[in-house]
Amino acid sequence: MPLSKFPEPTDVGFGLDFNTLAVHPDRQKEGIANLLMQYFVSVADRNGLETYFQSQVIAHKIYRRLGWEDVNNFDTDLSKWGPRKDLGIHRVVCMLRTPRAFR
Ligand SMILES: CC(C)(COP(=O)(O)OP(=O)(O)OC[C@H]1O[C@@H](n2cnc3c(N)ncnc32)[C@H](O)[C@@H]1OP(=O)(O)O)[C@@H](O)C(=O)NCCC(=O)NCCS
Repeated sequence: MPLSKFPEPTDVGFGLDFNTLAVHPDRQKEGIANLLMQYFVSVADRNGLETYFQSQVIAHKIYRRLGWEDVNNFDTDLSKWGPRKDLGIHRVVCMLRTPRAFR
């Protein structure tokens, strides 16, 4: 069953999930994340799979451009959870992408 048929996108469904996108600091801003994600969406589109994940705000633009849509936000007040009171609210954006042929 596609992920979008479940009441919450994190419920178990049939689709692709991915966890971490990171590029070595020495090679950032050269288009590597963009290329990796283009490959990822080509696999999702070829197999007709929805994709869910939680994006850091810094990378949100990359995913939006490739067809992911925001479904929710999680905000955590980091000042409550550690010694540093200056960190403030950390936001992750929950995103869902429908494969191209199904839009
Ligand atoms: C986020 C990250 C993966 C981007 O990797 P990258 O290879 O530098 O990204 P790209 O060069 O492909 O850039 C893609 C777009 O994001 C933008 N971007 C990249 N780094 C950015 C930054 N630090 N701040 C704002 N925008 C940034 C680029 O300008 C580019 O937009 P454009 O095509 O309109 O110019 C990389 O900074 C990273 O590893 N960060 C630490 C881990 C992390 O936060 N991962 C995100 C998990 S959801």
